Amino acid sequence: MRTRVLTGITTTGTPHLGNYAGAIRPAIVASKDPGVDAFYFMADYHALIKADDAARVAASRMKITATWLAGGLDPDTATIYRQSDIPEVPELMWLLTCVTAKGLLNRAHAYKAAVDKNVAEQEDADAGVTAGLYMYPVLMAADILAFNANKVPVGRDQIQHIEMARDIAQRFNHIYGRDYFVLPEVQIEEQVATLPGLDGRKMSKSYDNTIPLFDGGPKALRESIMKIVTDSRAPGEPKETEDSALFTIFKAFATPAESAAFADALHGGLGWGEAKQVLFERIEADVAPMRERYDSLMARPDDMEDILLAGAAKARAIAVPLLEQLRDAVGLRTFRPVAKAVEPATTKPASKAKPPRFASFREADGSFRFRLFGADGEELLLSVPFADPKAAGVARQALSVVGGAAAAIESQGDHVVLLVDGAIVGQGQPYPDEVARAAAMLRLRAALDALAAAQE
Ligand code: TYM
Repeated sequence: MRTRVLTGITTTGTPHLGNYAGAIRPAIVASKDPGVDAFYFMADYHALIKADDAARVAASRMKITATWLAGGLDPDTATIYRQSDIPEVPELMWLLTCVTAKGLLNRAHAYKAAVDKNVAEQEDADAGVTAGLYMYPVLMAADILAFNANKVPVGRDQIQHIEMARDIAQRFNHIYGRDYFVLPEVQIEEQVATLPGLDGRKMSKSYDNTIPLFDGGPKALRESIMKIVTDSRAPGEPKETEDSALFTIFKAFATPAESAAFADALHGGLGWGEAKQVLFERIEADVAPMRERYDSLMARPDDMEDILLAGAAKARAIAVPLLEQLRDAVGLRTFRPVAKAVEPATTKPASKAKPPRFASFREADGSFRFRLFGADGEELLLSVPFADPKAAGVARQALSVVGGAAAAIESQGDHVVLLVDGAIVGQGQPYPDEVARAAAMLRLRAALDALAAAQE
């Protein structure tokens, strides 16, 4: 079974070296592992919490998309999408909101920092704090849990949010009595867990201390690097590397051997001006080829739109069936008798299309089974063995009337299984890939809809 790795970037600004080294680069490396099922997205709903400048949010979504692709993310193997193209995310957010303790959100760092600042300034504690900021961790939990991600690679500032996502998932599972959610694990790239900015604090849009990755070209990159704050030691004097932002940034881009040589040069008295030039050249060597791809992508927004819409379709193949289960779990169910769960107009097979069909057979050991074939002849289900033909017939009849929306369909191991009264009655063909399994679930539901409609 592949490990689902998921991460997002808030689309409030221009990608900087911290986003790249701390999140994008390791995530792209991970996506090349055949054992990884990568889900990477633009957190554009999160952006609205921090920015009310529509043009800036719109531009940032494009820039961050282009950065992922220019960095080498392959949209055919990874799933890349915009958070706001997945309506199941805000829907799940509400289900999670209703099981999240308010006290948990009171402890969220970003909210607490805003409150502490207000109190220190003798303002009302919640002055200028939106409900969006308060709910930020629940939206982030929905991002992760809508896809049942196993691993979430992030910088250190996000660790608390992943812990909260685990808490919220556990609480939902407990209240509704089943492991609907896997508990996500945080993954930190130790080498570059927090990339410092120009002033030595964490590189962050909010501190205005960032070094742009692509914007402004090599000139802007060099100019920013020249502004990195250093101590006042003159050329010839030995330099400390321990708490040096400049050296830490170098390490995030260099091999261990290059870093050791650079440290030796600094200890040996290399001037800060020259050191900054070395740092610029090291980063530029990595960034220049990516910048070319980035510029070319930014000139083709339609192509990026197509890639993101295809990514959203892949992502929704996972989120839609999960939300169906969750709605059922919390009691948001159809009022109709199960066989009529879906409107006939949407479920009647096209007049010329062949309806799904059952084929019964007897095993060599004397047991009875049946298969369900889709309209195109695909085998969707192989039943469990039944001791006698009557029992097999009863099960077949149950499947003919249940309808896709009400059927209990789950993913178990590599298979999609169908349950009646809690017992497995059949399973589909094996798919090691979860996206393919989710698509198989949708096909099975569509076939059950068509069978139920044909009974009317
Ligand atoms: P955001 O947009 O602030 O940052 C994106 C990612 O970059 C990391 N990062 C850094 N890493 C190292 N050094 C730095 N100076 C640095 N600055 C930023 C962040 O830790 C993050 O991994 N809430 C998230 C976005 C998000 C998300 C999610 C992430 C929304 N939903 C679900 C993971 C899973 C955020 O604002 O990241």
